[in-house]
Amino acid sequence: MAVRTLVVACALFLGMCIITSGKPTETTHAFCKIVWLFGIPCNQVNMAIVTQIKAMGSYKLGSVTPTLIQANHTSAVGQIEGVNFTMTGTSMSMGCHVEGSSVSAFWFSLFDNGTNYCNLHNVIQGSGLTKTPGFMEFTNEWLCLGFGFSACK
Ligand SMILES: *[C@@H]1O[C@H](CO)[C@@H](O)[C@H](O)[C@H]1NC(C)=O
Ligand SMILES: *[C@@H]1O[C@H](CO)[C@@H](O)[C@H](O)[C@H]1NC(C)=O
Ligand SMILES: *[C@@H]1O[C@H](CO)[C@@H](O)[C@H](O)[C@H]1NC(C)=O
Repeated sequence: MAVRTLVVACALFLGMCIITSGKPTETTHAFCKIVWLFGIPCNQVNMAIVTQIKAMGSYKLGSVTPTLIQANHTSAVGQIEGVNFTMTGTSMSMGCHVEGSSVSAFWFSLFDNGTNYCNLHNVIQGSGLTKTPGFMEFTNEWLCLGFGFSACK
């Protein structure tokens, strides 16, 4: 019974389980990590993200594989952020777990007003993936600097 409860709790907080096992991010750069869960297969998620990045003028698409999408984002102030979307299938047959990370190239953008959060969030929002069944977004101030006062445009 106790074991079963633990497994369920871990599944519910899947994002957290994955994040806490991740390597610490360099702290001299502003950064953001977000975990999303989608109730659709990863190849569909991948396609939607790539299509959306191509449609957004401020992004430059880099290498794309079935499990990793890399891009650069140029923010209005002329700063560049590296953006990654890493896809992992979930144990549920149809689901996809995606970890997004955005890192500013320059140390002086440490307080970025949520730029890195918006870099990631806007792609998922724009792609329509937020409307897929089982959609969940998980992050917090430790994983995502400026998340609390971000106002994505
Ligand atoms: C993204 O930026 C990095 C660092 O400035 C650069 O090395 C890389 O080639 C860029 N990738 C694309 C797709 O522009
Ligand atoms: C994206 O992934 C590449 C390859 O694993 C890594 O070198 C880079 O630091 C990552 N960038 C971000 C913003 O997480
Ligand atoms: C963050 O917002 C404040 C107040 O709006 C502004 O003065 C500052 O320049 C912004 N910083 C960045 C890095 O955009």
